Amino acid sequence: MYDILQHTKMTDFSDILLNRRTIRKYTTQPVDDELLSDILTMGCRASTTGNMQVYSIVITREKQMKEALAPLHFNQKMITGAPVVLTFCADFNRFNRWCLLRKAEPCYDNFLSFVTAAVDALLVAQTVCIAAEAQGLGICYLGTTTYTANKIISLLNLPKGVVPVTTVTLGWPDEKPEQVDRLPLEAIIHREKYCDYSDENIEKYYKAKEERQDSKQFVGENKKETLPQVFTDIRYKKADNEYFSAVLLQVLKDQGFLLEDPQTPQRGA
Ligand SMILES: Cc1cc2nc3c(=O)[nH]c(=O)nc-3n(C[C@H](O)[C@H](O)[C@H](O)COP(=O)(O)O)c2cc1C
Repeated sequence: MYDILQHTKMTDFSDILLNRRTIRKYTTQPVDDELLSDILTMGCRASTTGNMQVYSIVITREKQMKEALAPLHFNQKMITGAPVVLTFCADFNRFNRWCLLRKAEPCYDNFLSFVTAAVDALLVAQTVCIAAEAQGLGICYLGTTTYTANKIISLLNLPKGVVPVTTVTLGWPDEKPEQVDRLPLEAIIHREKYCDYSDENIEKYYKAKEERQDSKQFVGENKKETLPQVFTDIRYKKADNEYFSAVLLQVLKDQGFLLEDPQTPQRGA
């Protein structure tokens, strides 16, 4: 195994986390199989529900497959520009198959099981990302996966019980963008119980974000009056949210996670 701990002193780890940024441009240097395999091995050490590991990861390296994936990610340049594309899937197929082979009746054809597997897949994805970044690799998540999950399922041959939940592009960085902002910690943290926000707190917590030059530029470029309008009217707008919700709900039905006619909940033995 590539001796990663020799390269990454544990004392560097907080620097790695605090200095990270999303990388969307990669050099042509390949990511070798051994390094990728080590990163994935570390990623799979992530916590997982009941130690079931109800996820799968599809590695895309071939140019032809990246070109086929690209339009499903709205032609974001990272797909064809990265040496490695990873599609993280919620996966009860493998576990169900094991149950069936061992005289156990799988009972995971429901929404809760999808959420369980999606949580597992996202935890492994983020752990893979941290492991990769600790090696100096750059990563970018692609949220487009859930928008076109139906098409990704066809392209990647995902069977029933498997739903792609996120995609990560991976490669050696060919850019060092400015770090983007984060809300102050006090905006995020609630002590013991959730304390709902006053308007004054909302003003306070979002002030720095709104006053950034890049935010102002973003508002201007999008011809909007305020920063949230860029989100509600352009980036994540109602019509798109509703359309892609319908696509995803159909995917969950097709992949066996939504019962056609769910029963009124009754707790049984
Ligand atoms: C679930 C998820 C989906 C994302 N989807 C995209 C995407 O489709 N395209 C993109 O360029 N960046 C995407 N990102 C990256 C975010 O834009 C980025 O993490 C955010 O702007 C903060 O920047 P930072 O990671 O450099 O701190 C995504 C991030 C997450 C967590």
